[in-house]
Amino acid sequence: MSAPEHDAATLHVTGRARYTDDIPMPAGALHLAFGLSDVACGTLINIDLAQVRAARGVVAVLCAKNLKHSNDVSPSAHDEPLLAIDRVHYIGQPMFLVIADTHTNARRAARLAKVEIDAHPPILSIDQALAAHSQFEDPIIFNKGNAKQALKTAPRRLTGVIDMGGQEHFYLEGQAAAALPQDNGDVLIHSSTQHPSEVQHKVAETLGLPFNAVRVETRRMGGGFGGKESQANALACACAVAAIHTGRACKMRYDRDDDMMITGKRHDFRIKYTVGFDPDGRILGLEMIHYCRAGWAQDLSLPVADRAMLHSDNAYNLPDVRITSHRLKTNTQSATAFRGFGGPQGVLAIERVIDEIAHDLSLDPLNVRRKNFYKNGDVTPYHMTIEDSVIAPLVEQLRISADYDTRYAEICAEHRDNPNAILRRGIALTPVKFGISFTLTHLNQAGALVHIYSDGSVHLNHGGTEMGQGLFTKVASIAARTLGVAYSRIKITATDTAKVPNTSATAASSGSDLNGMAVQNACLTLRKRLTEFAALHFNVPPEGIEFSKDHVQIGADRIPFAQLISLAYQHRISLSATGFYATPKIQWDRMSGQGRAFFYFAYGAAVSEVVVDTLSGENRILRTDILHDVGRSLNPALDIGQIEGGYVQGAGWLTTEELVWDDTGRLRTHAPSTYKIPACSDRPRIFNVDLFDNENTEDTIYRSKAVGEPPFMLGISAFLALSHAISMPNGQYATLQAPATAENLLMRYCALRGQG
Ligand code: MTE
Ligand code: MOS
Repeated sequence: MSAPEHDAATLHVTGRARYTDDIPMPAGALHLAFGLSDVACGTLINIDLAQVRAARGVVAVLCAKNLKHSNDVSPSAHDEPLLAIDRVHYIGQPMFLVIADTHTNARRAARLAKVEIDAHPPILSIDQALAAHSQFEDPIIFNKGNAKQALKTAPRRLTGVIDMGGQEHFYLEGQAAAALPQDNGDVLIHSSTQHPSEVQHKVAETLGLPFNAVRVETRRMGGGFGGKESQANALACACAVAAIHTGRACKMRYDRDDDMMITGKRHDFRIKYTVGFDPDGRILGLEMIHYCRAGWAQDLSLPVADRAMLHSDNAYNLPDVRITSHRLKTNTQSATAFRGFGGPQGVLAIERVIDEIAHDLSLDPLNVRRKNFYKNGDVTPYHMTIEDSVIAPLVEQLRISADYDTRYAEICAEHRDNPNAILRRGIALTPVKFGISFTLTHLNQAGALVHIYSDGSVHLNHGGTEMGQGLFTKVASIAARTLGVAYSRIKITATDTAKVPNTSATAASSGSDLNGMAVQNACLTLRKRLTEFAALHFNVPPEGIEFSKDHVQIGADRIPFAQLISLAYQHRISLSATGFYATPKIQWDRMSGQGRAFFYFAYGAAVSEVVVDTLSGENRILRTDILHDVGRSLNPALDIGQIEGGYVQGAGWLTTEELVWDDTGRLRTHAPSTYKIPACSDRPRIFNVDLFDNENTEDTIYRSKAVGEPPFMLGISAFLALSHAISMPNGQYATLQAPATAENLLMRYCALRGQG
């Protein structure tokens, strides 16, 4: 079957795809804006709202005391008030809600409050948080073997530290929601969210209603990247409260600056390491300490920090290992899910460790990597046995197809022969192994609802959300394949809590694994029912009935699918079915750090070659070759799109994207003028992406593998190629901190040359 293009491809490029803000609102609809804290930490003494209320177009202003039922938008710990109660915790925290006739009037009025806050010194940095013991829980520790002992007896040892910055999601469509009042105080929500069920729950709590009084619909997001897993709650709850308060439809969208000031980002991390190894570069013992800066509220920080620990090994067997993780609470935006969910931070640290070992031993880093790759039967630091590793053959194939050996030798010779060159090249090959499953076991479930109408057209619904990744297209082709009908017969519809209930966030890359299976399950139920009907009606054995190519083979006869449906309808056969799926085999205990955390792993590798101008630090990615394992691809074009996008986003995180907070805790990079995401011109000049020929060893939908997040970590090869480019031939390794902006590269290079 040829794979269909993204169902909204034409709508996207012609500007006709409808996002939340494009939904026509009823007459008299109102617009909302938050009044934000200007102080990072303090006690709220008084908010004088007189001028806000008097401002043009303002209909009402709400504060914490107006929230009668619940004032909490947290996805986890109930520690995140929608509107500040008596304290403020970061610059950008919502304190009050303005309801006005237009978006602009609401924003203008929000600035007119006279706020009195008794300011306290904020806790901003990792060091400040450690000094103040400001943390969300006691450190979590993973332990395998005896790292201390292994480090003591290892022939060689290295210690180091890497700081890595956070990352703004920069979804092109900002956060947005709308609420429409219904009969008897019920409410309909449109939300740009990866998690409609959670929005439903938080809105219901805010209004003091049962879940069945709130319906949430999400047709698509203009990107989520994890930033709409929990951060959409606040806008939806604000709209719901305002809609009930005024009896009118209410809509809210964050302006880009507000979005960046209010919402959480990727967690920044500091990771310290001590590694013991043998003269061949084999790792014998490793101790790692993670410091995770989580911001003011818990949000999803505990599972994010867990996933960083769970990826501290990446693709390498670590015989004796101890990993400690500190989850630090600071007066900054509450850091949240972002593609990879902590995994990238864990992977970056071990990749740095490998490069340092290689430089210490004057070996090609790729050889050190290969010596340490997992073999099936090896055990991870969290005591899960690796059974599906393809990392060694995958990297071998890429090494050859990308001509790595020749290019590496050439660049090393260049460094040696021309140490004063202004333009310096660098190259690095890094692998990725990424665990697929939510670590909170009960989230690994999904539901689907499939209707066949009497004309033979099919209405498809499931719990997943579409954010550009192509989930809806993949799932629709699974429905078409299972029913044996034309893809064009399948109508993709908006995610709707009234159709499929109790769903999980579309996250952890598991959208197609979970929802694809649930949809297949619903379609199999329908096919079975239709088969039984046809067998009886046409008096042929069920084995003689087959659905394919939009037709049904019934014994010797072949009739169009629509004709069978019409017959089934006339004979009063139910043409609607639900489907369900729960991932088997997984079990995980986060406190003990042990278990089968993942159903399976996705693998990949990338070679990046870069060039750095050593007079300015400016740099380019010259060429990238990627070989990535998606199992049996559900849709090669969509998968390659995910791989390219993930790589570029990962490289952006580690190079140009820099978040800067000043000493008062104010984020100074809150617009594209000061925060630089990769542009089209930043993509690699040569970009070769291939899918590795593999099938999932586990029984996933058509033996495919998840693809959403794993390729993000391939961007690490660009960062290590930059490190290689400015490392000195005398073995001095450029321990870059991330992001390696042009400025940081220049400073590091000058320091290495003794000009710093
Ligand atoms: N691709 C696009 N175009 N837009 C997005 O927002 N989010 C990523 C990834 N790819 C994202 C994306 C993240 S963080 C996840 S978890 C997965 O898509 C979610 O979708 P999936 O589970 O269907 O892969
Ligand atoms: Mo993705 S960070 O799991 O939404």
